[in-house]
Amino acid sequence: MIIGHRAHTVADWKLDDLCGGAGRLDVLVRCVTAALWKSHGIRRDTDIWLILNGPPEPPVTVHFSGEKIRYLNPDERSTAALIRNGLIKFKNEGKPMETSPGITMERIGLEGVLEKLPNPILLSENGEDVMNGANTFVLGDDKDPTEEEMEILKNLPNISLGKESLLSSACVTLIHHRLGLSK
Ligand SMILES: C[S@@+](CC[C@H](N)C(=O)[O-])C[C@H]1O[C@@H](n2cnc3c(N)ncnc32)[C@H](O)[C@@H]1O
Repeated sequence: MIIGHRAHTVADWKLDDLCGGAGRLDVLVRCVTAALWKSHGIRRDTDIWLILNGPPEPPVTVHFSGEKIRYLNPDERSTAALIRNGLIKFKNEGKPMETSPGITMERIGLEGVLEKLPNPILLSENGEDVMNGANTFVLGDDKDPTEEEMEILKNLPNISLGKESLLSSACVTLIHHRLGLSK
């Protein structure tokens, strides 16, 4: 799960401006690629949730199901296009909506997503706990969780992938690597 602090919640941005107008959506779509793509195929056992917390009406959560996803390509632009088209279709009716096969949007935020997912753990440079049994990994985008978000996350175990601050998408790749080693 990636917290997109400024990622826009309507499609008021252009595919050529993911870093600016879309509120650093580039970070989030890179994480989707790292989470779901292998060299020539999809990780059917993996899901990723993007929490869009930017203007105008946060939050919107986008769930990519590795099992069900279709039309996903490894490049950032086409993943962003799936999100953009989804935001155009998404209706604010208080229930989840599958905007394309394997992509579901819902008006819930960090707390609501956490309630749905098993054994969550927070990724942090300062973490000290071990990954034992974790199935859900919570990361910031280009920013760490805010104080308000940390209130929600305060009881989660914290794990570190080293003291160096890494790109969120690099952390996702390292998590896959660690999970692979422990199989
Ligand atoms: C680019 S970092 C966030 C900004 C960064 N902490 C900073 O201000 O320099 C994005 C997210 O990746 C995760 N992360 C980055 N480096 C990490 C590390 N060494 N160990 C664990 N998680 C890390 C954290 O969840 C972090 O919020």
